[in-house]
Amino acid sequence: MVANSRHQSIAGLGRRPEAADSFGRPLRDLRISVMDRCNFRCPYCMPRETFHDNYRFLPAAARLSFDEIVRLTRLFVAAGVRKVRLTGGEPLLRSGIADLVGELSAISGVDDLALTTNGVLLAQHAAELKANGLKRVTVSLDSTDPAVFRSMSGGFDGLERVLDGITAAQEAGLTPVKVNAVVQRGVNEDSALGLVEHFRGTGVVVRFIEYMDVGNRNHWEPQRVLPSRELKARIEARWPLAPAAVNYRGEVAERYTFADGSGEIGFISSVSQPFCGDCTRARLSSEGVLYTCLFATQGIDLRAPLRGGEDDAALLGRIRGTWRAREDRYSELRRTLPQDQPLRKIEMYYIGG
Ligand SMILES: C[S@@+](CC[C@H](N)C(=O)[O-])C[C@H]1O[C@@H](n2cnc3c(N)ncnc32)[C@H](O)[C@@H]1O
Ligand code: SF4
Repeated sequence: MVANSRHQSIAGLGRRPEAADSFGRPLRDLRISVMDRCNFRCPYCMPRETFHDNYRFLPAAARLSFDEIVRLTRLFVAAGVRKVRLTGGEPLLRSGIADLVGELSAISGVDDLALTTNGVLLAQHAAELKANGLKRVTVSLDSTDPAVFRSMSGGFDGLERVLDGITAAQEAGLTPVKVNAVVQRGVNEDSALGLVEHFRGTGVVVRFIEYMDVGNRNHWEPQRVLPSRELKARIEARWPLAPAAVNYRGEVAERYTFADGSGEIGFISSVSQPFCGDCTRARLSSEGVLYTCLFATQGIDLRAPLRGGEDDAALLGRIRGTWRAREDRYSELRRTLPQDQPLRKIEMYYIGG
């Protein structure tokens, strides 16, 4: 796949100082939601009562085209981005996704290109994604118990297909394959040990994510959060763990290796141990709105100026200016915010994980 030559060069733009926000955090990661729709209805993300059959998702014309995504990604790279992750909604529902991967992987400066998926369609796409330059996949899987899987996905049977997708990703070399599991107290907490057991020794890295108060539609309650430290103690009682060295600044998962050498697991503890201080992530919605926090209440529209003919320098100025003005640290402030007047936050399915 050859990148569009119109977008090959933004000469000079990348030579200027990179943007750091008001807390000195550089811009390093870009998460691109390529599709607001999903083939699951995980209750903690897209509860079926809201995202029903008649829910009005974005029309195709509202979504950024591949050319537009590629052009913006080049500009984000000029602003400092080195890691790009495709997400959604469900990114594998976006037709031609492997072509987009091909174009993004050809951008000089993109050191890491990954994709987060629920895995249902992964087996059929894994080899082509790899061939076009995707480096890694993260598969979201909350339980290997079919009944729990069904309830966590909003009533879908697809466990075997997800497991096949994980195998296909490993065979294709999209490694290390990571499995992200959201843990909700009283819902799937008993599945955690089963997930560890299933993937221990396979090379797949399981990471447990604390259930977060993203958006406003999932009726989040703090009582439903199982703090990572509690979960880690349960796992450690069965399989002794040792802390793993931190890989890089901004690594969100606290990583541990199994003492018997059977691989590693991780914990992402946005609720109990906020990591805002190291957050270097920007998010681009499928309709081209830039968000500087997962818990944002508003974003900056890049699609209108893009489609209005703004040149690269002006668009880059918007990206840098937005990042420099960034003051987000929602997770650190969570406990101090009034609970009776919740913020109107953007939904996770819309900006991606
Ligand atoms: C929004 S999904 C988009 C990509 C794809 N559909 C998937 O599920 O992997 C990205 C990640 O967000 C996670 N997620 C969604 N809602 C969440 C919540 N309330 N708390 C924690 N993680 C959540 C999902 O489990 C998934 O790993
Ligand atoms: S977590 Fe992913 S798979 Fe589940 S509803 Fe949200 S976008 Fe879909």
